[in-house]
Amino acid sequence: MSQYTNVLFVGDISGKSGRKAIADHLPKLKDKYNLDFTVVNAENSAGGFGITQKIVKELFDYGVDVITLGDHAWDKPEAFEIVENNHKVLRPHNYPKGTPGRGFHIYTTDKGVRIAVGNLLGRVFMSTNVDCPFQASKALHREYRMGTDYDLMILDNHTEASSEAVCLGEVWDGKASLVGGSHTHIPTADAMIKPRGTLYQTDTGMTGVYNTSLGCEFAGPVKQFETGIRQKKVIATGEGTLCGLYGKFDNDTGKCVEFKMIRTGGYLPDTEA
Ligand SMILES: [Fe+2]
Ligand SMILES: [Fe+2]
Repeated sequence: MSQYTNVLFVGDISGKSGRKAIADHLPKLKDKYNLDFTVVNAENSAGGFGITQKIVKELFDYGVDVITLGDHAWDKPEAFEIVENNHKVLRPHNYPKGTPGRGFHIYTTDKGVRIAVGNLLGRVFMSTNVDCPFQASKALHREYRMGTDYDLMILDNHTEASSEAVCLGEVWDGKASLVGGSHTHIPTADAMIKPRGTLYQTDTGMTGVYNTSLGCEFAGPVKQFETGIRQKKVIATGEGTLCGLYGKFDNDTGKCVEFKMIRTGGYLPDTEA
């Protein structure tokens, strides 16, 4: 068995163009980086709002292993059934007790590597009243240990404020293999291996159409800023960019040994060209 596991974490897939970017680029990334495991945030995959049963199947058909969500998890009513019945689709872990579904689960790859995936929702500048993600992290740390209960861990750090994201990243350093940010839809340039071996990036970026308002046409959001009155948001069409974070991890330690910020297709400069 190889000593290493190759993982790709992909930020918020937005609408049809985002899904097409996955279909167009994931196969070549799987080949190029010898990917063993792919986690995608798909909270905006259904026309910008939520997820559907059909899209879950579509993303798994493209070769995705686990889907994470965020504050948009519940935009489509069928989400409740999806997260309840499909253990490969995670909603944020720190929703109150009794919320359907789960936000932390341990999977085993074809090669026998145990990979935990978690999804946490921030509270700063978020309209959701979820439980504290820091206390939720502490509870997970009391219950599970990297190297004992799982070999690797991927955490979707779904926060609005970079201050909250970096601090959540810090409390997971050495306890997760990869802490990838999602939610802001803008990739940050700070991917790094932290002192205890965790691969961290504040936001891995949206997988969707750039030069838009977070994947939506500008007209509605600009008018909303001009008038202060909520406007309808329309998902943008065009070529999407796949944005994500690739990491290579040592199966014995769970630590990152190599990484790359990925941006391919669409409007942003291509790291894979
Ligand atoms: Fe979000
Ligand atoms: Fe999002």
